[in-house]
Amino acid sequence: MTTSMATADLQVSNRPFESNRDTASPNRNLTPVTTAVGPKGGLEVGGCGLSDLARRYGTPLYVLDEATLRGNAQAYRKALASHYPGSALALYASKANSSLAITAVVASEGLGLDAVSAGELLTAVQGGMPPERIVFHGNNKSLEELQLAADLGVTVVADNWSDLELLASLGLSQPVRLMLRFTPGIECHTHEYIRTGHLDSKFGFDPDQLEPVLRHLQGCSWALVSGLHAHIGSQIFELQPHRDLAAVMADALKLARELGHPVSDLNVGGGLGIRYVASDDPPSIDEWVRTVAEAVAGACQERGLDLPRLLCEPGRSLVATAGVTLYSVGSRKEIPGIRTYLSVDGGMSDNPRPITYQSLYTAVLADRPEAEASDTVTLAGKHCESGDVLLKDLALPPAQAGDVLAVFATGAYNASMASNYNRIPRPAAVMVHDGMAELVQRRELPEELLRYDVLPERLRPVV
Ligand code: LLP
Repeated sequence: MTTSMATADLQVSNRPFESNRDTASPNRNLTPVTTAVGPKGGLEVGGCGLSDLARRYGTPLYVLDEATLRGNAQAYRKALASHYPGSALALYASKANSSLAITAVVASEGLGLDAVSAGELLTAVQGGMPPERIVFHGNNKSLEELQLAADLGVTVVADNWSDLELLASLGLSQPVRLMLRFTPGIECHTHEYIRTGHLDSKFGFDPDQLEPVLRHLQGCSWALVSGLHAHIGSQIFELQPHRDLAAVMADALKLARELGHPVSDLNVGGGLGIRYVASDDPPSIDEWVRTVAEAVAGACQERGLDLPRLLCEPGRSLVATAGVTLYSVGSRKEIPGIRTYLSVDGGMSDNPRPITYQSLYTAVLADRPEAEASDTVTLAGKHCESGDVLLKDLALPPAQAGDVLAVFATGAYNASMASNYNRIPRPAAVMVHDGMAELVQRRELPEELLRYDVLPERLRPVV
């Protein structure tokens, strides 16, 4: 479905919403790059009025701004080309938000993709991502998933001995391209649930295992060790851990090549943070890539190594700020002297990040984004759980039932982590571009949630 919402009038009289707009690095903006205030004061993204979208598609609604996604993808490509002397490729970490439409956009921007399940692999391939640009991750891959990866011809990131045993058991006729993931032993400051580089992590080979694994693989004709991988965590603002990682990875590359493996790829993972609230100050994509590229090139030169191809796996920094979630405001509960709860028609099932990581967000009323915020409310979801709160102490203009509320930077780890808690259907998603809105994920229907239930004969109600 395609809906045109722009008129020449609107485009002429619109003005940007944010004054600190950084078009070169949209991960540093609170809102999508196309966010504008229309002539009647309402917010628009991608040339589409947000409250019009809410009316047309219902709420909660995930809105994805194609220009922001493309801008981020181009920022990675441009930065890699200008700061790394060898070849390089950014792979979209599709766990951030996996869909056919997003895959198609990032594939058309020349990026590759990181998938971690059969579902993400199928989405990638059907969305048009060439298999040679896909890497397949996971700390507990099934035999079926590994067979699928081998059949598709994607690169498998071996995380542990079990991966190697299962792959060996497949009896492959062609060698599979392998990347070895190891834990680099690097700490960084982010939420403990999204830290992965420290030694106590479920991901990757322990660094002590790297040499035995490389030696073991010398004798495996089914394996072609083409790369090494490490990822230190997510929503990281520091640059130093990425420099430290480059040195650790260059040592591993030296070892692998000394042991006779033709390793051509060094994959440094993802992790660059974004701005969720005004006080967040992440590096730009250019700064992050430059730091990583210079560190990898420098570390390889110091060790006399031919430059590997540099791979990285951004997820959040590519897609988060492209996303806005629209909700309709519903009930209000005032507890004098304590707090006012304003409830919306979604919550922890479409955005589990606040309850999981105490994540902060920024929100405005879609029709009055610049009105005086004279009220302070706690934005609650509709689920039967006290912790189902999207934003605490949010300054808003007085809001009424039916107002549309826009929460920014929800493009990453919202739709992909959504659930059906309380049997609430997952929202629709639309992609907006130049005044067009296109449905890219259909809203679930309550009756569809019963699709997988089976009622045994003996329990059926007697009529
Ligand atoms: N590569 C690997 C191997 C990863 O495990 C991840 C994220 C990425 C790349 C992408 O990282 P990013 O560029 O997005 O930081 N659900 C959490 C985030 C979990 C990240 C998991 N791995 C959240 O909502 O904050």
